[in-house]
Amino acid sequence: MSNSIKLPIKKGFGNTDRVDKWWSQPIWMGFALTVALVYTALRVIIWDGDIQYDNHRVTSPIFSPDVIHLFDLETPSWMNSALLILWIPFGFRGTCYYMRRVYHRVFFQNPTACMVSKPEINYRIGYKGETGLFVLNNIHRYMLYLAIIILSMKVYDVYHTMWFNNGDFGISLGTIVLATESLLLFMYVASCHAFRHLFGGGMNQWRKGISGLFGKLYWKISDLNVDHSFWFWTSLGMVFLGDIFVWAVSEGTITDPSWIIFRGLR
Ligand code: FES
Repeated sequence: MSNSIKLPIKKGFGNTDRVDKWWSQPIWMGFALTVALVYTALRVIIWDGDIQYDNHRVTSPIFSPDVIHLFDLETPSWMNSALLILWIPFGFRGTCYYMRRVYHRVFFQNPTACMVSKPEINYRIGYKGETGLFVLNNIHRYMLYLAIIILSMKVYDVYHTMWFNNGDFGISLGTIVLATESLLLFMYVASCHAFRHLFGGGMNQWRKGISGLFGKLYWKISDLNVDHSFWFWTSLGMVFLGDIFVWAVSEGTITDPSWIIFRGLR
């Protein structure tokens, strides 16, 4: 005989005994993700503002790495690098463990929030874990490997901003903007659950030698992992701030101040 215990949750979508603003965070998250998706779609498909300035010295984070320019690809005039590479950051972020929690709560209302009643239909359909279409979430570790390649190319992009067209070497505000974006993305990748698994997650024990080292790394990455959501949002936000900055400079709305360290090195 089963002795099931009913949780004291009120019936009816959104009903709860909670007195805090439990709905505030999901609303802001839903708003931010929607703006991010709409902005990306408009920028990549409709808004044809420049994606770089100074003869490709600085490239917008949305379009970086600019593979069409880097590899001199022959493409139709409507094609841009974002259309070729965005499936990687989308796939990486879309299968992120934290992101799964966000979209299940915000968009599917399954659950709506802790101790808050969800829509009636979700009591019948329910959360079924990584089944059906959601089984694709299991490609996250492979998307991580591709994201690491993209991150490496972005780091190269930062270095590239330091070489001015006349052969001078230095930094500009564009360097700082792209370096900040790369740093935040690095922290997001370094705090990833799948990244942590690479360092000792598959070992049965951490003792001496290499396994002991991996064990230490595992705990270090675990410390970063605590703030994974923070790195998710800040790295995402910086992509768009960086794009707006590059776009504004390329249109002449603002300037990119620079500080030369060595003159005529090239
Ligand atoms: Fe979020 Fe891997 S768990 S990026």
